[in-house]
Amino acid sequence: MISIIVALGQNNLIGNNNELPWNYPADLHYFKVTTTGHKVVMGRNTFESILNRLHKPLPNRENYVVTKNPLWHYPGVQVILDLEKFLKEDHQDEIFVIGGRSIFETALPYANRLYITHIRKAYPGNVFFPDLDLSQFSLVKQKDQNEISFCVYERIKP
Ligand SMILES: NC(=O)c1ccc[n+]([C@@H]2O[C@H](COP(=O)([O-])OP(=O)(O)OC[C@H]3O[C@@H](n4cnc5c(N)ncnc54)[C@H](OP(=O)(O)O)[C@@H]3O)[C@@H](O)[C@H]2O)c1
Repeated sequence: MISIIVALGQNNLIGNNNELPWNYPADLHYFKVTTTGHKVVMGRNTFESILNRLHKPLPNRENYVVTKNPLWHYPGVQVILDLEKFLKEDHQDEIFVIGGRSIFETALPYANRLYITHIRKAYPGNVFFPDLDLSQFSLVKQKDQNEISFCVYERIKP
């Protein structure tokens, strides 16, 4: 199963240069708890922004980095050269697509579940989530905490 996990600001904002536009420890904790023990799939830019912050891949998760560069390599990290092929494979376990923009765009049509942290406050930024039609999903969980809401959506079966 393919899941997307994303923190979404106003107007679908997700990034500022190669960083998150905000700092919400509660959201980072939610991300960690939700994805620990699972495979996480990310674009090379997002991986580099994680390396800048943690100086290592995400711990206790199987890290997959998407790149077009067949020579790209980082110790302990799996490489995906063909993202569509990977997404079409029959994944019995829950795979978490964690960004950034270009990876979300390719993965969205394959996503069965969305973990969206909605952030109801304006921040400056220049990277946006692709067009999202939430009418194709039903809200199955919501927890509000000040200006952020942790929501889970499941794709409505046709
Ligand atoms: N708010 C959130 O929850 C959230 C989550 C994650 C990221 N972000 C933000 O998003 C921004 C990064 O997004 P981004 O779009 O710039 O970068 P990205 O998606 O993380 O990485 C882009 C790179 O991934 C590779 N790639 C993308 N599509 C591919 C494909 N179909 N096949 C093979 N390789 C592919 C390419 O790497 P090569 O150049 O090596 O070929 C491309 O340059 C940052 O600001 C980050 O903080 C926000």
